[in-house]
Amino acid sequence: MALTATDLTPRVGSQFHIDRADLLSGAHAQEIRALLVERGVIVARGMNLTDDEQRALARTLGDLRLGTVKQEGEEGLMKVTFDKTINPEYAQFFFGSQLWHMDGTYEEMPPFATLLTPRVLSETGGQTEFANNYAAYEDLPEAEKAFLDGLKVVHTMQAALFPGKPDCSVEEFALWHSYPNREHPLVWHHKSGRKSLVLSTSGSHVVGMHPAESRDLLTRLMAHAAQEKYVYRHSWQMGDLLIWDNTGTMHRVLPFPEESGRQLHRFTLNGEEPVAGVA
Ligand code: OGA
Ligand code: MN
Repeated sequence: MALTATDLTPRVGSQFHIDRADLLSGAHAQEIRALLVERGVIVARGMNLTDDEQRALARTLGDLRLGTVKQEGEEGLMKVTFDKTINPEYAQFFFGSQLWHMDGTYEEMPPFATLLTPRVLSETGGQTEFANNYAAYEDLPEAEKAFLDGLKVVHTMQAALFPGKPDCSVEEFALWHSYPNREHPLVWHHKSGRKSLVLSTSGSHVVGMHPAESRDLLTRLMAHAAQEKYVYRHSWQMGDLLIWDNTGTMHRVLPFPEESGRQLHRFTLNGEEPVAGVA
């Protein structure tokens, strides 16, 4: 058998086993996608992909996000690091990734999936956690599901970043504030027929709800969705390949020393459907 998988936890995460050449051939792309969407996050150990291989693999799985090409040979590559000399554009925002979030909630179509491989690891901390927002939705009482359907949440950069840096400067706050906001349904009705909670620290408030009630609701849902039973914690090893479905999970990185130089290489697949609510 070319591809086999084992559950990492009952509700989220699978490790898959595949021959490196088989992985890169693209022949199993549909199986890999299906496993990804079913399990939220999938991991293969010992793959040791180069940037070119990671990019080629991404292209077999979906529509590669190109972004701005920084350097020859780096098409689509984002270096996930706190080091501003390596990633001047984004390093200033990565502290926010320590809070539960979905990527790209400011876009109409958040990215479908992301592929990560480690390049420099921290000796302490730096694990990445993934929470299954399909499972968290499925377990809610029916009356609550009915109540949440139709609610809309405004996502903002200030909401995403301020809790991570409450001592920010006025200029920093103004910069975050200058980014566009985006309204999304709280419950995503996916084309597949499945439903998930669209939860992220970027969720500022529920449209039309009293601010205190709205804060209570989002805080309560976040606490529900982040329960241990919905979470897989990934402890990185060199050689790993990790892929997550950004449309049905949220993620965060656990704190690690900045001096560690922790760095991951990331390729992202564009969204394939807008966040759609109840018809
Ligand atoms: C990201 C992210 C987590 C990590 O790349 O979007 O949140 O473990 N990364 O660095
Ligand atoms: Mn992220």
